Order: sequence, then structure tokens, then C-alpha cells
Amino acid sequence: MPGSVRTRRALRADLLDFTADPGLGAPDERALRFRPDHWLLIEADGRIAGTLPGAQAPGPDWPREDHSGRLLMPGFIDTHVHSAQLDVIASFGTELLDWLERYTFPAEARHADAAHARLQAEAFVDALLAHGTTAAVVFPTVHIESVDAVFGAARSRGMRLIAGKVLMDRHAPANLRDDVAGAEAECEALIMRWHGVDRLAYAVTPRFAATSTPEQLCMAGTLLHRHRGVYLQTHVAENRAEVAWIAELFPKARSYLDVYDGFNLLNERAVLAHGIWLDAEDRRRLADTGAQIAHSPSSNLFLGSGLFDWRAMQEAGVRVSIASDVGGGTGLSMPRTLADAYKVQALRGEKLNAFKALHAATRGAAEALGLEREIGSLEPGRLADVAIWDWGHGAVAVHRDRLARDLHERLFAWMMLADERALVTTLVAGCTRYKRRDDDSGAQPPGAAGAPVSSNKETSHEHDTQPRAAP
Ligand code: GUN
Ligand code: ZN
Repeated sequence: MPGSVRTRRALRADLLDFTADPGLGAPDERALRFRPDHWLLIEADGRIAGTLPGAQAPGPDWPREDHSGRLLMPGFIDTHVHSAQLDVIASFGTELLDWLERYTFPAEARHADAAHARLQAEAFVDALLAHGTTAAVVFPTVHIESVDAVFGAARSRGMRLIAGKVLMDRHAPANLRDDVAGAEAECEALIMRWHGVDRLAYAVTPRFAATSTPEQLCMAGTLLHRHRGVYLQTHVAENRAEVAWIAELFPKARSYLDVYDGFNLLNERAVLAHGIWLDAEDRRRLADTGAQIAHSPSSNLFLGSGLFDWRAMQEAGVRVSIASDVGGGTGLSMPRTLADAYKVQALRGEKLNAFKALHAATRGAAEALGLEREIGSLEPGRLADVAIWDWGHGAVAVHRDRLARDLHERLFAWMMLADERALVTTLVAGCTRYKRRDDDSGAQPPGAAGAPVSSNKETSHEHDTQPRAAP
């Protein structure tokens, strides 16, 4: 695999991961594994070898990097994000259906150009890494160029990425429409080219029920049946006008979710974004089939889509992961997305504790994707996809961190106040893929805070000796 680590390394920091789902409501520490001041040992093959208390430094055959006083967690997993929508973040004044027409379709149409698609995909993948996100489930566009570009960018950085060509054969501009036979042939070729290559997996990707004919949704089901390991990704029940439109387009379906169910698209590899306007029967079907909801709180707030009922999902046994949904969402930062998730639940009278939130963005997502043996925790044998963060970045966060009386208070304040400026470094399979500039004062213009680390050369063995950021 390109970029695999060639020597061991040992990172000293406060290690945090999860052993189980902490659940909503009062924070439950039993699901959490917090090892303050420990070494994380990473083998030459990029896998986690184990941990040691900080005072027991590993031997001389473990090159050491001291991040004492910083927080080390598994890299975040963003389960729904659009690689071709960096151009449309923060576009004013619309709800979903107008937003698609006015902003999003024109931006996606530009990805017919392979050079543009490649540039944008490289920038997108580097931006994920610069936000501490090491794995993602990604919508490119209808164009195979954009799919090749995002898989290629992820592969050259050794990343875990799931993506697939967007299917749209109606209700979209002509330059974004495909047809059933052509799309099927393209999907087959892309599955052959990318599925199972290194850390990449293919997802059959009907955009949403409005933009695929019944024939195309049927073809999507056939692809899933033919290629058992591939994923399915789509949108469901995001916006009320959208839900009403789907009911008109599919009058025989019991619900929006039932449209997908009718074409055999729901299974334990299905990732459905949003799921706001669902009922108890829908939740039962999600739980029975094992399909997961990629909850996208920033997007739901920004587009005014609605308030996701996480408790009802939990009580029904539905798996819920967390997603930025850029460009409907307003940024790639998972801490910010989690902070928005807290606010969405607060508006419902629910309390989202920091343990549950961080679990959903790491181990919970890995389990929902069936990838828990590869990512999502710091267990020995997992690939070392990890991020190291300041506990506090900027005067207010540092001040608040100092006052925290227990671990939940500290993590909750971190989750509410952190963003990409608090990120020190990101590792993928043990290789450094993002590193904040040493002179970072937290006051540079956007984009200047740090640098992607080249995907072509081995860069993982600089020995950081950075002091603790917080006094
Ligand atoms: N529904 C169909 N397409 C999209 C999209 O690109 N973003 C969001 N948020 N919802 C959608
Ligand atoms: Zn989306």
C-alpha cells in the first residue's frame, strides 16, 4: 500500500477510546477507556501494537514522539460527505430542493472535467485529514472522473474510503443525468477497479429516490445482490417538501424508506443520510435490516431540515453514526458537527453526552460500517488511524479546560469548543498525513494553519518534541 509506515513509532499522550456504546442520557464511564499519559506503540506495518504507561518509556527500538498533555483519539469517521461540494459550503438562503438546483448541481457539473475533479478530490481528502478525519463515506458526482479522483486521492494517502458513482437518471440537469444501462456498466467497471483495493470499498450510490427512476433503483438492488461486499449510500427523509415529493413519485410505497426497501437496498452495509422524517415502522425496518443512519446535524440546522430524533433511533436499536454532509453541512470538523448534534438534541429536550457523541464518530461508526476490526479504536491490531489534539486551543478553551472537574466535563468542553485549530497531527496507518505548523498561533488566515504531508514520500518519522500546549 502506498505510504505504509516502515519503522515503528511510539506516541506519548492522553489516550482515549471506547469499548462499548455509552448510550444517551447521563454519561457512563464504563464504555470509555481513558489512559492519561500513556505511550501508544505503532508497529512498522502501521498497526497498533499496544500501550505503556508514560513513565515506562519503550526501548530504543521504538522512536518516540512526546505529545504529553495532549489528547490522542482514533481518527474520526465521517459517514456522509460530498467530495464535490466544497464549492457550495455556506450558500445563502435555501432549503434542500432549491439548494440542489441553485448551488449544488452547477458545482457538481464541473466535475465532468477530469483535471478539475482531480484537483478538488485532492483538496477534499487533504481537508479531511486536516480536520482529524481519517475515514469517510463519500458522494462524488455522476461522473466516473470524480469517482476515480477521490479513490485515487485516498489510495495515495493510504486512507479507508467508501465511495461510488452517483446515480441520477431523472429530475436533474441534462449534464448530470445518466441512464440505467450506461450507469450499470460504469458501476461494474468502477467496482472492478476500486472495490477491495487497499483500503477502498465501493458504494452503490443512488442520490435519492427523486433522482432515480424505479428502473434505476432496481438496477442498484441488482448490483448489491451481484457484489455482496459493496455498500449502499443514499439520502432519506431529510426535508418535508422532499418527503412529500417522494410520496407523489412513489404512491404505492408506505413511506420514503419503504421505497428503498422495495428495491432491496436496505442491509447492514446501507448508509442512509439524515432520516429525520421517519416513523416507528421505518425505525423497525432500519433495525431489522441493520441499515444505519448518518446523522448530519450541521446540515440539518443549516438547511432548516429538522431535528433528528436520536433517542427514538436508539430505543428502536438503529445504528446511528455522525456525518458532516458538506456542502449542506457547514464544515468538515467533527467536533463542530458533534457540538451541533448536542444543540439539535437540546432542542428536543434530550442530552447528548460527550462519550456517546465521540463514540458515534469513532468506534460506533466503525461498527456500523463493519470495520471495527480495522478502525475506530486503539485496540492492538487496529490500523493506527489516529489524531492528536490540544485539550484547549485559544485562550477561552484553555481556560475552560483548566476548570474541568472530571473527565466528562473536560471532554464535553473539548467537544463544544474544539475545531481544526486544535488538531496537532493526523496519522493514517501510522504515517503522518497532516501536521500543524510549529509556529501555529491560532491566528493565521484560513487554510494556513497546517500542511498536508506529501502522499508520495515517507514522512512519518520526524520526532516531535512539542511541549504541552495547555499550562
Ligand atoms: N439529497 C439529495 N442530494 C443531496 C445533497 O447533495 N445533499 C443533501 N444534504 N441532501 C441531498
Ligand atoms: Zn448529503
